[in-house]
Amino acid sequence: MTVSDEKFTRQRLLSVQPWSDTLFSLRCSRDPGFRFSAGQFARLGVRKADGTTVWRAYSMASATHDEFLEFFSIVVPGGEFTSELSRLAVGDELLVERQPFGFLTLDRFADGNDLWLLASGTGLAPFLSILQGQEVWQRFRRIVLVYCARSASELAYQPLIKQLMQRDYLQQHAQQLTYLPLLTREQQAGCLHGRITTLLDTGELEQAAGFSLEALNARVMICGNPQMIDDCRTRLKQHDMHLSLSRRPAQVAVENYW
Ligand SMILES: Cc1cc2nc3c(=O)[nH]c(=O)nc-3n(C[C@H](O)[C@H](O)[C@H](O)COP(=O)(O)OP(=O)(O)OC[C@H]3O[C@@H](n4cnc5c(N)ncnc54)[C@H](O)[C@@H]3O)c2cc1C
Ligand SMILES: NC(=O)c1ccc[n+]([C@@H]2O[C@H](COP(=O)([O-])OP(=O)(O)OC[C@H]3O[C@@H](n4cnc5c(N)ncnc54)[C@H](OP(=O)(O)O)[C@@H]3O)[C@@H](O)[C@H]2O)c1
Repeated sequence: MTVSDEKFTRQRLLSVQPWSDTLFSLRCSRDPGFRFSAGQFARLGVRKADGTTVWRAYSMASATHDEFLEFFSIVVPGGEFTSELSRLAVGDELLVERQPFGFLTLDRFADGNDLWLLASGTGLAPFLSILQGQEVWQRFRRIVLVYCARSASELAYQPLIKQLMQRDYLQQHAQQLTYLPLLTREQQAGCLHGRITTLLDTGELEQAAGFSLEALNARVMICGNPQMIDDCRTRLKQHDMHLSLSRRPAQVAVENYW
């Protein structure tokens, strides 16, 4: 098999950004032939010292128009993949499968006015990609980004989120975004306190957004912790909001990270 026939391409690490002891982002070069839709993921491979390669799914956090690829990662203590990934340095090799996957994409929704993006932990990544593109701002009138972490030190990407709407191509859409950071294990000014599920129950999320989350107008993307996703889906079902399928477009799209 020649290199060009392989299912993956070999990319180089361009930069590493630590956010906390257990969170970091990395940027790598991008094969010119690698195309993806915002919200999708790729399978990444790292070579281990014993010569084997370990693969895991990672959402692209970078925009579809960026020349590089960016990924936002946790470090799982003793985790087979993240133990290796977190050791990589600028210039090291990262394998990226040629084929992107995933349905946490805007084309899951046939209509809708308001888009609610609910993320726990690294589940923020696909939403960063979506928000940096143009399509979402043209399709939805109001967008609410809800990002839940344990503590303020684990809220990554705050500079990007705060400066996003100052980008030339997004300035006209600045009024459309509401950003709601949530902390569960400490309190801080500017952040809501509690889990997404709790604040859905109490109505605080809707109150903070300034409008209601209801089936007619709202479309909801949820990403991260699988239990959080299940718990959110249970609540949304009670409001007649269901998983959107290509044969039956509805209100909800999800990506479980484990
Ligand atoms: C579609 C998809 C997209 C993904 N995108 C990302 C991403 O963008 N960033 C990312 O960090 N991970 C992402 N993951 C998870 C990732 O594939 C790996 O599970 C993660 O890198 C840990 O690998 P590991 O071998 O070190 O541990 P694993 O053996 O894979 O996982 C061990 C345990 O660690 C916990 N865990 C795994 N991933 C996470 C996480 N992201 N946050 C919190 N706890 C976790 C779970 O309890 C899991 O059972 C994604 C997974 C899927 C299925
Ligand atoms: N974050 C760390 O400091 C840290 C350090 C080392 C290892 N780890 C390990 O890494 C794994 C993941 O850590 P993580 O903090 O990135 O991800 P996480 O456990 O998914 O937590 C991220 C956020 O989601 C919330 N959440 C968890 N389950 C939920 C549910 N069912 N419904 C609603 N919200 C929910 C958490 O709230 P709660 O705070 O209420 O759970 C937290 O605010 C864990 O196994 C952890 O032991 C984490």
